Amino acid sequence: MSRTIVITGGTGKLGRALAGQLKNDAVVLVARNAERLKQIAAKTGAEYQAGDAADPDQALQAATDILKSHKTVDVLINASGGWIGGPYEETAPEDIQQQIRSNALAPMLFTREIYAAMKEAGAGRIVNVVSQGGFYAERHQAAYAAAKFAMDGFTKSLAKEAREHGVTVGGIYPGAFGEDDDSETTLNVGEIVDAIEFVIGRKPGVNVPELGIQAIKYGTD
Ligand SMILES: NC(=O)c1ccc[n+]([C@@H]2O[C@H](COP(=O)([O-])OP(=O)(O)OC[C@H]3O[C@@H](n4cnc5c(N)ncnc54)[C@H](OP(=O)(O)O)[C@@H]3O)[C@@H](O)[C@H]2O)c1
Repeated sequence: MSRTIVITGGTGKLGRALAGQLKNDAVVLVARNAERLKQIAAKTGAEYQAGDAADPDQALQAATDILKSHKTVDVLINASGGWIGGPYEETAPEDIQQQIRSNALAPMLFTREIYAAMKEAGAGRIVNVVSQGGFYAERHQAAYAAAKFAMDGFTKSLAKEAREHGVTVGGIYPGAFGEDDDSETTLNVGEIVDAIEFVIGRKPGVNVPELGIQAIKYGTD
């Protein structure tokens, strides 16, 4: 049966690959750049809703518009993000803010609106795309690690309150991946899509709280 699946970060590497794969479902992509959304929607058949999910008003508006046309959301996949590394004192304040906004605030605010509808329906699944950087803090990633550790805590805490209402919340923790990659250090994005398909294919009531996936030689020893 076709599910309604909302993907934040719908124009990113992972969002695009998911939209291309989940063709039997009603997929709604969310991101800020409307032109880019339109292009990807035309290629994949997905719907889209433009908005900054890190802005409370825009997150509410986007979620309200989606819920008007779909009544319920079966699956929310939070795949918005952004990475800017380097020595911390050289990281611009705007880049620090941006990483917190895209990696943590956007999924948290958007989830708030969609989770309320799932809770009312007594069903739903939320999958947060975190990162290996949400398990282990590497050097030169202080802002990114802060955002991903926030997402790890957010995912685990919300899972405990959501389960009483039939809603599952879990995290995917990938290492580096890319569209043209397939190496001992960097996975192809298709591997992350397969992992997410496994999670969202579980029957209601089965949660996958955390699923790590990485290339064999990813990260430091
Ligand atoms: N690629 C990797 O190696 C890797 C590794 C581990 C974890 N991850 C995580 O996996 C997820 C997907 O990664 P990716 O590589 O596909 O990301 P990406 O290619 O950088 O795309 C990021 C997406 O997030 C959207 N976005 C950013 N801020 C937003 C906001 N405030 N509101 C709405 N949309 C927003 C962007 O669109 P707009 O700019 O148009 O808003 C874009 O669609 C991210 O959470 C990332 O941190 C990635």
